[in-house]
Amino acid sequence: MTLILGIETSCDETAAAVLKEGRVMLSNVVASQIELHRQYGGVFPEMASRQHVLAIIPVIRQALADAAVSWDDLDAVAVTRGPGLAGSLLVGMNAAKGAAWARNLPLVGVNHLEGHIYSNWIQAEGNTPDKAFPVLVLIVSGGHTELILMSGHGQYQRLGGTIDDAAGEAFDKVARVLGLGYPGGPAIQNAAQKGNDRAWRFPRARTRNAYDFSFSGLKTAVLREVQRLEGQDLSISRKLTPGEHLPPQTIADLAASFQRALVDALVEKTVRAAQETGVSEICVCGGVSANAVLRQSMREQSPAPVSVPPIYLCTDNAAMIAAAGHYRFMAGERAGLDMDVIPNLRLIP
Ligand code: KG4
Ligand code: ZN
Repeated sequence: MTLILGIETSCDETAAAVLKEGRVMLSNVVASQIELHRQYGGVFPEMASRQHVLAIIPVIRQALADAAVSWDDLDAVAVTRGPGLAGSLLVGMNAAKGAAWARNLPLVGVNHLEGHIYSNWIQAEGNTPDKAFPVLVLIVSGGHTELILMSGHGQYQRLGGTIDDAAGEAFDKVARVLGLGYPGGPAIQNAAQKGNDRAWRFPRARTRNAYDFSFSGLKTAVLREVQRLEGQDLSISRKLTPGEHLPPQTIADLAASFQRALVDALVEKTVRAAQETGVSEICVCGGVSANAVLRQSMREQSPAPVSVPPIYLCTDNAAMIAAAGHYRFMAGERAGLDMDVIPNLRLIP
C-alpha cells in the first residue's frame, strides 16, 4: 500500500492531502484565500505567498491528522512545481523539501495541470478499475484551456487549446464587467440561474485549428453590450463597478447568454474531438469544470461516458497533486532537493 502526501500552493489555495494507492482520499485540506483577494478583484501575488507561509504548516499537520497517518507511514511527498505564481510555488516546494529531507522521504515534482487531470482518478473507494485509454481530457481552469488526448499514464498529445483567454479568465473578466465580483465563475453561474440564455446570441468564434478555442471576442461582445445598454464608455479595468446601472434581470440575462456561448464552444469542440478520436471516455477538469451548465451539456451531448470530479476537486487542491504524484512515483520518478519551481511549466514540452 502506497501513501503519498500531496502539497499544492501554485495560486491562492494552500492545500495538503494524503492519498492511498493514488486514488483513495484519506484527507484533503484546503485553506482558501478567496476572502483576502476579493477586495483586489483578483489574486494579489505577494499577499498570496505570504498567506501560504502562514498556512502551510498547519494545513500539512491537519492533512496528516485527518488521514490518521504519521510521517513514518508515508512513502513519498509530491509537490506542485508549476505552472503558477513563483512566490506561491516556492512556499509549497520548500515545505515539501524540508519534510522530505527531515523524514528521508522520496520527493516527486508534479505539473499542476497533470494534477487537474488526475482529479478524475480520485474515488471514494479504491476498487474501481483504472480507466481504459485513450481518454480525451478537457482542462478548463483560470489560466488554461487545453484539449488533450491521453494515451496512457503521463502520455499526452495536445489537440488544441485557447488562442487568447482561458475559459476561467473569461468568466472572471465578464463577471467584473457585470459587477458580479470575484471569483467570476461561481458568480456568473449564480446570476445566470435567473436569466434567459437566449436573450443574446453572442459569437461562437471560429478558429483555424478545429480544436482551438477563442474567448476574447465573446468577452468583448459582452463588454460592448454593457456599454451600449449603459450608454457610456466603460473599460474592463475601470475602478467604478461596471454593470451597476443595469437592472438585475438584464445582468442575469447577459450572464446566462455568455455562459451558454462559452459552454457551447467547449462542448461542441470536445464532442467533435471525441467522435474523431474514438476515445473511451471524456475527462473534464479544472476550476471551470465545477460549472453546472458545462457538466450537464457535456453529459447530454457526449458520445462517450463523461467523468467530472466532484465540485471540491474541480478547483485547486492537493489530493489531485498526490494522485498525479502517485503515478509518477510508481514509474520511478524522484526529484532531488535542488528541484526548482517552474512558473511557466508546460504539460507537453
Ligand atoms: O483550477 P482553478 O481553481 O485554478 C487555476 O488553476 O486556475 O480554477 C479557477 C477558475 C476561476 O477562473 C474561476 O472563476 C473558475 O475556475 N470557476 C468557475 C466555477 N467555479 C470556479 N467557472 C465557472 N463556473 C463555476 N462554477
Ligand atoms: Zn488549477
